[in-house]
Amino acid sequence: MGRSPSSRVYVWDLWVRLCHWGVAAAIALAWFSAEQGVEWSQVHAWSGYAAIVLITFRVLWGVLGSETARFSQFLAGPGRVVAYLRHWRQGEPHRVGHNPLGGWAAVVLLAVPLAQAVSGLFATDDILFSGPLNPWVGSGTADLLTSLHNQLFNLVLALVVIHVLAIAAYRLFRGDRLVKPMITGYKDGGAYQPWIAPARRALALLAGVVAALVGLLAAASA
Ligand code: HEM
Repeated sequence: MGRSPSSRVYVWDLWVRLCHWGVAAAIALAWFSAEQGVEWSQVHAWSGYAAIVLITFRVLWGVLGSETARFSQFLAGPGRVVAYLRHWRQGEPHRVGHNPLGGWAAVVLLAVPLAQAVSGLFATDDILFSGPLNPWVGSGTADLLTSLHNQLFNLVLALVVIHVLAIAAYRLFRGDRLVKPMITGYKDGGAYQPWIAPARRALALLAGVVAALVGLLAAASA
């Protein structure tokens, strides 16, 4: 049970929030640096490594973390997603955290940017800038992953636009204020307090070490 008074519900733990805004910042920086030309290529590469570390951490936290962070708590079957959509205006009485549709949106919003960043490790512009793992693959595979890296970014952008529009729709049509809880961790009202993982600092450290190792591997030149 959370420690806050019952009128405030601790809905997103610190690690979920740090990952969320960290990934958003990494994607913004990757986009900006990609537009700047080759002098910014190291910034572009490091924003990609940061996204890989943060998303890896979030995936581990989806197994080890507190209730609202866990995939097992928020991934719903198709029946619940359809029922949720049918009664969208009223809202379904799920306890707290991601609703049945939002849970799948979270998975897509983690998976597509991860695929984008990982494909960049193998990509090359054939002149001045290559990802560190580009020498590990043949030129056919590198071409394929380079074009995937270029195409996927449009999908990432489209998903982010849909994500922000969906959040605005919750505010406009249902009166749900979702942004503040993703900043402060707390939402107003609600009877159910989600549980926080025991020894969460130790678990976060463990997940951080593994995610950092993945990032180092990603950054390592062949
Ligand atoms: C590159 C940009 C972004 C990405 C990749 C992204 C990704 C995600 C992901 C993966 C989640 C699920 C949280 C989790 O369980 O870890 C989420 C939730 C959320 N995001 Fe974003 N996000 C982005 C930008 C934004 C922006 C600009 C806003 C503010 C308008 C925002 C507001 C939120 C909110 C309020 C939630 C919680 C929704 C709920 O209550 O279910 N996000 N986002």
